[in-house]
Amino acid sequence: MEIHTNIPLKNYTTMRLGGNARFMADAHTADEIAELARNTKAQSIPLFILGGGSNTIVHDEGFAGMVVRNRIAGFEVIADDARTIQIRIGAGENWDEVVKRTVDMNLTGIEAMSAIPGTAGAAPIQNVGAYGQEIADSLISLEAYDTETDRFVTLQNEECGFSYRHSIFRGAASGRYVVIFITLQLYKEAPQPPFYKAIEDYFAANNITMFTPQIIRDAVIKIRADKLPDPTVMPNTGSFFKNALIEDWQLAELKKEYPDMPSYDMPDGNFKIPTGWLIEQTGLKGKTLHGMRVHDKNALVLINESATSYQDLAAARDEISGAVRDQFRITIEQEPLEI
Ligand code: EPU
Repeated sequence: MEIHTNIPLKNYTTMRLGGNARFMADAHTADEIAELARNTKAQSIPLFILGGGSNTIVHDEGFAGMVVRNRIAGFEVIADDARTIQIRIGAGENWDEVVKRTVDMNLTGIEAMSAIPGTAGAAPIQNVGAYGQEIADSLISLEAYDTETDRFVTLQNEECGFSYRHSIFRGAASGRYVVIFITLQLYKEAPQPPFYKAIEDYFAANNITMFTPQIIRDAVIKIRADKLPDPTVMPNTGSFFKNALIEDWQLAELKKEYPDMPSYDMPDGNFKIPTGWLIEQTGLKGKTLHGMRVHDKNALVLINESATSYQDLAAARDEISGAVRDQFRITIEQEPLEI
């Protein structure tokens, strides 16, 4: 395994900002991951696993440790019955290639998560979700290297602590596990309506009345292309903020002032408020702050137009979240992780 030094992480992250990695290596097997994890631990060097770099923001000082690009490949059907199929997937596989392959097999379960940048192994970290599906709904288990006990472990879905855009991997167990394989369960039956509103609207507008995984995938690709800027053309990390979660008393207060505020019920009794709507209300949609543009088609997305440092991004973020806090008394959270 080759170890490179002083590598500019802006070339490996889609926001294209921040400093260098002191060390960087590609790991193609679980054993290479284990070797890197053991060596860095022995030398007290911090370790960070990078997937596609589409949900990671790098500080200007860079990362004074080892950045490992997880390149573990694999796509293997491990169980197959009348209704379902289980597939074990290497953490380094490109997520959308995985979705495409399952759609080609006419399977349902992850087709609405089409065209999301990044790798399969990164998907459980933030419980990736889109258009009514999230990985927590399909993930049976994942295999990981446990850097605390220096062993390979299998974690079942319930052990991953999934909730909206969250898991133990970015919470209590942050930095502990390196995902090497994920196992998904997908279904052979056709996708069933009702679908996410944007998909229903698209089907109505295009007179689509027959639903297959491929038809859903095609719809999602079209909807996303319209709303989300391509990170290879305009540097961004998809949604830069999470949608806001508030309690019923907060909702009641805010609805008095803003009767048109959209809100969605969450299974735990709280409510999700689209942060894109909150930002839009502050008047910042389409504006550029410190070289970061609030996307004019979806205010949840920040595009790096001319920012040259993490500091620029942080200043823009703080102004946006400050404006939302001043107007709505809601503290919004950043979605991408920082190193
Ligand atoms: N909205 C506005 N103004 C905006 C943006 C959104 O008013 O500028 C309101 C509208 O009411 C709209 C609602 O927000 O109906 C929801 O918007 P949309 O369906 O576009 O979804 P989102 O909340 O902006 C979330 C995910 C996306 C995912 C879409 C579709 C998060 C943080 N983001 O965005 O995920 O693709 O739903 O399911 O939950 C990502 O995580 O990077 C990402 C792109």
